[in-house]
Amino acid sequence: MTEALPPIPSASLPVSARAPGKCIVFGEHAVVHGAPELVFAIDLETQVLVRAAPATVLNGDSAAARSNPYFARALASVWADGPPIDVRAVSRIPRAAGLGSSAAFVAALTAALGAATGGIDRPTLARRSFQIERGAQGVGSPGDTTAVVGGGFLAINGGPGEPLWTVEDGPRRWDVRRVEDPGWVWVVAHSGIPRSTADAVRAVGERLARPDGPRLLAQFREVAEAGLRAVGRADRAEVASLLARNQELLREVGVSHPRLEELLRAAAPAAEGAKLTGAGAGGSIVALPVPGKETELVRRIARAGGLPFVVRPSPTGAALVEAAPDA
Ligand code: PMV
Repeated sequence: MTEALPPIPSASLPVSARAPGKCIVFGEHAVVHGAPELVFAIDLETQVLVRAAPATVLNGDSAAARSNPYFARALASVWADGPPIDVRAVSRIPRAAGLGSSAAFVAALTAALGAATGGIDRPTLARRSFQIERGAQGVGSPGDTTAVVGGGFLAINGGPGEPLWTVEDGPRRWDVRRVEDPGWVWVVAHSGIPRSTADAVRAVGERLARPDGPRLLAQFREVAEAGLRAVGRADRAEVASLLARNQELLREVGVSHPRLEELLRAAAPAAEGAKLTGAGAGGSIVALPVPGKETELVRRIARAGGLPFVVRPSPTGAALVEAAPDA
């Protein structure tokens, strides 16, 4: 049976909402072109607090409604006729790191504004968040916004069973399905190199438009499909070897980076498998630790200059934050 994720209920201002970041295990970039992706929500999150105010500001910045494309598009999409608001956003997700900071901000804000306008069901929250992020970035798939709205492990365009929801963008269509969490601990690590998701997505699009593009895309698809099956049966050894194969493909389409390769080399003795995660060209890696070597893995990555986080899947996606009861 298809799980029904709870809607974001109606709430009046002030309202606070949170959303997790995300980690792509298999299929980034290829997902933009319709191939499958496996992604999970991570337990680093962004929170927003929305209050009525004399003028609209984001973290004290009164120009943000024009200058911040995510904020501007969220306001236009879900708050077009709304009164001025003061939005505070705090996040533990490193920015421009491939860990979903922009998707988490958009989903948390859209959940809060959706609550303040009568509530919003989850497929609508996922679709709106995608349209906002896609509009702000100009390119991309609904993988990130879907992960942070749905929580847990999700397959985009893959896996068995009925879709939780579908997201469309012109002729493109992505089905979203629940995948069971195999219950593993993961380590993600930021290289410290910021990069633009949009530039990386465009560069890979050009690479895939070359004559051998269809062959490469078919290989991405094959790895992600095998990865979905391996995670489904909690087969760590197979997942680890598919992480390495996925990394080779990402290297081949040009989105690895010398710093990412250094972090992957540093991680290797304490990781069963590892690859870059997200758009690449900088950003982060994800590693599956050798059981019992989690601390060693973190130490190795930190010594190599990375910023590691031990993460677990966050089972719930975007949600309202309950106000503390009055004392
Ligand atoms: O680096 P991030 O978190 O922006 O990851 C983007 C993942 C891509 O597949 C490269 C793009 C997308 O929209 O799916």
